[in-house]
Amino acid sequence: MKDRVAIVTGAARGIGAATAQVLAQKGAKVAVTDIDVELLEQVVATIKQAGGEATAFLCDVSRPEQTDQLVNDVVATYGKVDILVNNAGICPRIPVDEMTEEMFDRMFNINLKPVFFLTRAAANVMKPYKWGRVVNISSTGGRIGAVHNSTVYSGTKGGMLAMTKSLARHYAPYNILINAIAPGAVDTRMFANVAAEARDEYVETVPLRRFAQPIEIAQSIVHLCSEETTWVTGATLDVNGGVVMV
Ligand SMILES: NC(=O)c1ccc[n+]([C@@H]2O[C@H](COP(=O)([O-])OP(=O)(O)OC[C@H]3O[C@@H](n4cnc5c(N)ncnc54)[C@H](O)[C@@H]3O)[C@@H](O)[C@H]2O)c1
Repeated sequence: MKDRVAIVTGAARGIGAATAQVLAQKGAKVAVTDIDVELLEQVVATIKQAGGEATAFLCDVSRPEQTDQLVNDVVATYGKVDILVNNAGICPRIPVDEMTEEMFDRMFNINLKPVFFLTRAAANVMKPYKWGRVVNISSTGGRIGAVHNSTVYSGTKGGMLAMTKSLARHYAPYNILINAIAPGAVDTRMFANVAAEARDEYVETVPLRRFAQPIEIAQSIVHLCSEETTWVTGATLDVNGGVVMV
């Protein structure tokens, strides 16, 4: 991935941080972006200590003016954008009867809005090069519906899958490949807000009988961003220990 420039959103921790690290190990210059500036700087320091190249960019992905600015800033720093990983997301566990309109909008704004607006901004930079890779991080919730009080979250993640296919068709003439990954439960802060009993019950349903580590999702994301992936677009890759087979 030498000479490739990648943007990873939600890269301060969890799956995003692991993805940024693997991309950098493979030689990409990585724009790590999040709303948590302190942790971002730690991720950049870790990448640089390992001999990689990365820069931190503060960006709230729910704000299209900020995601447009992010793309401009990355182009000013590294000259172009080849790879985008739409990873930032939130999953507050809210029962159906307690969901508010405000939280509904917040979840769609953070989880789904950048899949359109940030992808469009990045793709406009990729187009002249006739090369681009976009990976959208969905969820098993987007495949089969909600578990653990995540009905609205599952709606955002299902929307990501439909938008992945639509954008993949739209940008295919420019050789910009757009795919989605649907992880099952991963051992990050996001699943830490599920009760221990429910976590144990969930693991019983997973054929591989455990949670994933962030690096195991990152490896699949990076595969879809790589030079080797040339004939896959509009697809969803299930990376879930076998819990969903569709
Ligand atoms: N952990 C899981 O079990 C799991 C399963 C399926 C899918 N996913 C998806 O994987 C992705 C990464 O999740 P994770 O488990 O690493 O979660 P995480 O909570 O560890 O990390 C999410 C990151 O997104 C950032 N973020 C939140 N709102 C933001 C905003 N408005 N702008 C920019 N950044 C923002 C957070 O600061 C955080 O660093 C998410 O899209 C999530 O939905 C996670």
